[in-house]
Amino acid sequence: MNKAVILVGGPSRATRFRPLSMHLPQPLFPVGGQPIIWHQIKALSKVKDLKEIILIGFFEDYIFQPFLSKCYEEFSGISFKYLREYSQLGTAGGFFHFRDQILRGSPKNIFMLYTDICCSFPLNDLLAQHERHGRLGTIMVTKVDRSSAHLYGCVVVDHETKLAEHYVEKPETYVSDLVSTGVFVFDQEIFNFMAKALEKRAAEFEHEHAQENAYGRYEDLDNTQDVNRLRLEQDILRAMAGDKKLSAYMCTGFWRQIKSAASAVPANALYLQKAATDGSVALATASSDGPEISGSVYIHPSAQIHPTARIGPNVSIHARVVVGPGVRINDSIILDNVHIKDNAAILHAIVGWDGRIGKWGRVEGSKVTNSDDIDEVTHAGVKVNSICILGEDVHVKDEVFIRNSIVLPHKELGGNKHNEVIM
Ligand code: GTP
Repeated sequence: MNKAVILVGGPSRATRFRPLSMHLPQPLFPVGGQPIIWHQIKALSKVKDLKEIILIGFFEDYIFQPFLSKCYEEFSGISFKYLREYSQLGTAGGFFHFRDQILRGSPKNIFMLYTDICCSFPLNDLLAQHERHGRLGTIMVTKVDRSSAHLYGCVVVDHETKLAEHYVEKPETYVSDLVSTGVFVFDQEIFNFMAKALEKRAAEFEHEHAQENAYGRYEDLDNTQDVNRLRLEQDILRAMAGDKKLSAYMCTGFWRQIKSAASAVPANALYLQKAATDGSVALATASSDGPEISGSVYIHPSAQIHPTARIGPNVSIHARVVVGPGVRINDSIILDNVHIKDNAAILHAIVGWDGRIGKWGRVEGSKVTNSDDIDEVTHAGVKVNSICILGEDVHVKDEVFIRNSIVLPHKELGGNKHNEVIM
């Protein structure tokens, strides 16, 4: 039997996902017509003998319940659980803390997946290679451009034996262009390895603080949180590589991070293109009396699209959206309850929940072309996204042009805005 853990983080994380995470936790934000973590779950549901998926995070308990109820209906044969960390325990701390629940039923292999990624998730291949090599864990890696490798956890791999020889988190100098994707599979023995790592960390911590206290500093700090905090990258993977207990599996499909709000647009495009080939999400099809559809487009059944609108490629239109005559939308995500009036254009943009775009209005960003998360541009000293993002309940008046801007929720825009962050 196999199990999986998805790390969903908590409200204090995903700050780069604002303003969209002000309305909805990042793991539930829709890309490719479904919440980000639905894609992880869909891929896990195809893994042989996978019986349970556990979400670990520090959001309030009720946040994921409606989503998990839907998962129970959609993915029969798999049980779901949300386990809440009492404080932010780091990328391995919660996993270790809840080990008894994870080990219940004695799973042979335990997947761990990060939330803030979009990927083709070749999980059965990953598992097959992991079992073939029989090491304590396998990290899925992907190749990135050499110039951006320093932004990731870099892995030096022996291509013949698949041994991960070194793991270095965000190295200052070049180490390797193979980087961690945030997808792992571990043998159940991983918890013994983690226990030792935690003991070592606690001893180091005690030593450091004994020294600090000797100099009369930090005496009244409450250190319990830090002692229990365990980082998968620095505390575990690096040590596993050092002990020759980590394999690397090369992902040859697509992968990118979903860190900033803007990165949801290219992630949306990747998942829609995947749906076009594997049918994982039902895509819109063109008809003689319907709107013009080009490329991969998702339209929620409750949305009303005028037959003269032109939609696509790479567009997701969500529940109860109304799109008027002559509207053009491409490379964008339109969230629930948005109304877009006649002849408006939405290009490379995200329009937040309950937004209103007036007649001949234009919301336009520039296309994100790189595969990394470097999707911010600076203009006159102001950092703005290349994708145009309107937060929840933003109203753009008739004929107004919003370009390359980020607009915080509940704003009414009566004049043109270019390269601005509108607070
Ligand atoms: P950055 O590049 O610095 O953002 O680091 P990273 O790519 O390693 O990602 P990060 O460590 O921030 O998070 C990886 C995944 O783990 C994301 O899905 C987070 O939501 C999740 N995560 C991060 N910290 C915690 C934590 O303390 N507890 C839980 N449960 N999840 C976490």
